[in-house]
Amino acid sequence: MCGIVGYIGYEQAAPNLLSGLEKLEYRGYDSAGVCVYDGEKLNVFKAKGKLKILSDMIDGGKAVKGTVGIGHTRWATHGEPSDANSHPHLSDSGKFAVVHNGIIENYIKLKDHLIRRGVKFYSETDTEVIAQLLDYYYTGDIIDTVIKVLSKVNGSYALGIICLDNPDQIIAVRKESPLIIGLGKNENYIASDIPAILEKTRDIYRLDADEIAIITSSDVKIINTDKDEVKKEVQHINWDISAAEKGGYETFMFKEIMEQPKAFRDTINPRIKDNRIVFDEINLTPEQFKSFKKICIVACGSAYHVGVVAKYVFEQTLRIPVEVDVASEFRYRNPIVDDKTLVIVISQSGETADTLAALREAKSYGAYILSIVNVVGSAIANESDDVVYTWAGPEIAVATTKAYSTQLAVVYLLTIYFGDILGTISETEYKKYLSELRLIPDKIEQILKNKEDIQYFASQQFDNRDIFFIGRNLDYALSLEGSLKLKEISYIHSEAYAAGELKHGTISLIEDGTLVVALATHENLFEKTMSNVVEVKSRGAVVLGLTCENHPEIEKSVDFAFYIPKTCDIMLPSLAVIPLQLFAYYVASLKGCDIDKPRNLAKSVTVE
Ligand code: M6R
Repeated sequence: MCGIVGYIGYEQAAPNLLSGLEKLEYRGYDSAGVCVYDGEKLNVFKAKGKLKILSDMIDGGKAVKGTVGIGHTRWATHGEPSDANSHPHLSDSGKFAVVHNGIIENYIKLKDHLIRRGVKFYSETDTEVIAQLLDYYYTGDIIDTVIKVLSKVNGSYALGIICLDNPDQIIAVRKESPLIIGLGKNENYIASDIPAILEKTRDIYRLDADEIAIITSSDVKIINTDKDEVKKEVQHINWDISAAEKGGYETFMFKEIMEQPKAFRDTINPRIKDNRIVFDEINLTPEQFKSFKKICIVACGSAYHVGVVAKYVFEQTLRIPVEVDVASEFRYRNPIVDDKTLVIVISQSGETADTLAALREAKSYGAYILSIVNVVGSAIANESDDVVYTWAGPEIAVATTKAYSTQLAVVYLLTIYFGDILGTISETEYKKYLSELRLIPDKIEQILKNKEDIQYFASQQFDNRDIFFIGRNLDYALSLEGSLKLKEISYIHSEAYAAGELKHGTISLIEDGTLVVALATHENLFEKTMSNVVEVKSRGAVVLGLTCENHPEIEKSVDFAFYIPKTCDIMLPSLAVIPLQLFAYYVASLKGCDIDKPRNLAKSVTVE
């Protein structure tokens, strides 16, 4: 959600800024801009629409002189996508240029205050308030002025600032929204995320809340708002550079779908030693775990859907009450949470604003926080009592696939681990679950080999207006994810229903030709779901049935069947999600959608 880059060094800044912004396109944006100091003034170039428009405007950056600059891709929140609302924003005097990710909540009050004192505004954005405040409070000391401005604003921000009076430095500061500093040789960078700088350097600092970085080409100094120097550890990123590249695939999403067997293995293997599950990273003791009276799971989007799976799985195997909430609801519902509650927070990015706020809310009641996170060192990871990382590697496509799968992998590891502690699973079940878990990546590979079957079905069905996903229990949890995946990348209206709920209203929407994807992977509920299939078929629905290999009879009831290998019941979602991801992918591809960057969406939602 908005991308920030900055470059200071000996090379021409603008091409570096454009290349960094290109790597951040996945975050979602609707306009882009750069500001470069040319030796005399701050030159701003910005344009609504794709980065290419900006790039063409400045000849790939070659047309812009200067070795210090900041750049931005904007995902509109305040003010429509337009050239004027794009960042960077200049202060009225032209002295300050600012790029911003986040939301300044009290900007209207601040803007009114400045307008009353004669300050002119040129955009509708909350961000411009920062540029104008910098002008307004400028004392000649940039750092004092930045600190003063920060004391005036409420909200979330990652900021990159250049000041004409000191053009040999970039000031970077953050609160809530992520920002890293890339450390080069006689050149340094700022960026919202690692892919923007990975080609240039693997050494980074992660800025923490209200730390201010003063960055020159040869030095990075970090201070807090009391101006005390902060010593930070350099983090070395050891991702393979290909992890952040498409590597011959047409889209990141397809690459990430295909990477799932590896991501799953990378997540479970380090935690299995001598046929036991070992969580070296968890401080929670067995006694503490036994003292919990309930588990609350909070997350957003697909991570929430993992939470819905986890609720079924934990309650079935651990026999502990589990609540699962979307984070934006949890944070405002005055939840009943205390020190006898384990709160599990799930997030790929570790930066989702609502999830982070829900974590803080739960923590304030004394709950123990265990998070499942992909991005190392992210805010959610840092603020949790325990973190279990999903080793999915960088996920670039907006629609999550491998992060979802690895989050499920962690849920299964935790299930077996906690079940053992509580004694709710026997030794025989322990061994059975563990061996099934180890086989999941091979079975995912097997499903991926049959992807053309799904591609064929998608080619018959890609022009539907509405698609319904139905299932019971874990199949319902999975229907939620199948439906979200489809709607976010193909823009087809879709809904997920607990199959038994259909006749309480929704079945009235089924008419001739309506596509229903029926998930019937669970042995004990197969017949029940089949009866719902018969109900929708008799009202004209076209049905794709998804079940396990041992149910070929499904073909008598559905128009198209897809089979997944058998595994233990609780792990079936890890297999059944693959055809659903592929279906969404192929439908979106046949519709010509921009799969990696769906309209209106951002990869990490760092504002409320
Ligand atoms: O980074 P997070 O896991 O916290 O993100 C949560 C959701 O925004 C995310 O899962 C979103 O729903 C995805 N676009 C789904 O594909």
